[in-house]
Amino acid sequence: NTPKILAFAGSTRIDSYNKRLVKIAAAGAKAAGAEVTYIDLRNLPLPLYDEDLEARDGLPANARTLKDLMISHQGLLIASPEYNSSLTAVLKNAIDWASRPAPNEPPLAAFAGKVAAIMSTSPGGLGGLRGLVHLRSILGNIKVLVLPDQVAVPNADQVFNADGSLKDPRQQESVGNLGRTVADILFKLN
Ligand code: FNR
Repeated sequence: NTPKILAFAGSTRIDSYNKRLVKIAAAGAKAAGAEVTYIDLRNLPLPLYDEDLEARDGLPANARTLKDLMISHQGLLIASPEYNSSLTAVLKNAIDWASRPAPNEPPLAAFAGKVAAIMSTSPGGLGGLRGLVHLRSILGNIKVLVLPDQVAVPNADQVFNADGSLKDPRQQESVGNLGRTVADILFKLN
């Protein structure tokens, strides 16, 4: 059966560079035969995680939607902007909500055993690389298999074509390859 891969950026910004980046990886996964679902976290606003809120109301509807999407996909493509040398609060908050246990679900149902590729882009010279270090560690600790390959693209404000592709064909290929590799691994696991 066809592997399913969920793609999203850790940004709600409408013109997010990281949304552009993850769509390139998503296209690579599609070209390798996977089924890819792209979601925009702007359309799934979540309250800031609050244990009292959860105890009172359970998972908010958008957190349940996000968690169900993650459960129904075997692969993840995540483009993570860097804020103050780490991942964004938006992305960490989404991970925290989706990591919460629920009755009749195995622990870490949204994460355990998923195959993920992570990437980043930033107007800065490091391309968000420092944030990927933290994201990789977090995902590994919640049992995600994160590919050793990752891509950080510097100078985000200069490197994209109007159609969202990267001007440098080698960068375009390496980002596409992240999606291709996740798809190839999932085909082998299936
Ligand atoms: C940033 N930005 C940033 N960039 C970077 O390379 N390293 C950093 O540590 C930070 N820190 C940071 C903190 C905060 C609070 C903001 C708002 C921004 C700049 C950031 O890379 C830029 O806004 C990107 O455009 C964000 O990614 P998206 O939303 O375009 O995907």
